[in-house]
Amino acid sequence: MEKTLVIVTHPKLESSKINKRWIQELKKYPNNVIVHDLHATYPSLEIDVQKEQQLLESVDKVILQFPFYWFNCPPFLKKWIDDVLAHGWAYGKNSGYKLAGKKIALAVTAGIKEEDYKASGRYDYTLEELTRPFETTFKYVKSDYKSLYAFYGEEHNPTTEDIETSSKNYIDFIEHL
Ligand SMILES: Cc1cc2nc3c(=O)[nH]c(=O)nc-3n(C[C@H](O)[C@H](O)[C@H](O)COP(=O)(O)O)c2cc1C
Repeated sequence: MEKTLVIVTHPKLESSKINKRWIQELKKYPNNVIVHDLHATYPSLEIDVQKEQQLLESVDKVILQFPFYWFNCPPFLKKWIDDVLAHGWAYGKNSGYKLAGKKIALAVTAGIKEEDYKASGRYDYTLEELTRPFETTFKYVKSDYKSLYAFYGEEHNPTTEDIETSSKNYIDFIEHL
């Protein structure tokens, strides 16, 4: 497996079901996967931008893992994007585009069922459509955006088997990026 950085942003990881289980699975691959928990690293929400940029530069693949909150990412991940994808590093004429060509994907957990994330469903749009700002952001910085991996329906009593299967398939998704 190529070196992968998984950036986890969950404001309440202690009470998480899915993200917590995914992290457990990722930690079985310490030689290839770095799990980077933003809230644990920066409890004061002050980001060490240089450290983040160095970390990003040191890996082949980057996954942004988060629970879907109001059809978006949790706010600390938005701040991370605003701060870390800085002019002169992520974009800009001379020294920018440090993420050019890097494989980037999302790993999103959703409370709502997959059938409701459809044109014919309750919320009209797919998760792929609702995450277009991420796709466009990573296109802007010339990285190789690879879409998303999702868990749907956390609010509808998923079985242990559903969660276990999604954890294994998550590793598969990363491997085949
Ligand atoms: C503030 C808040 C907003 C949420 N908004 C959404 C949403 O827009 N769409 C959705 O599918 N689930 C939404 N949820 C449900 C979470 O996405 C879901 O509980 C979480 O992804 C489950 O993962 P976890 O077990 O790791 O916490 C929301 C939950 C909270 C607390």
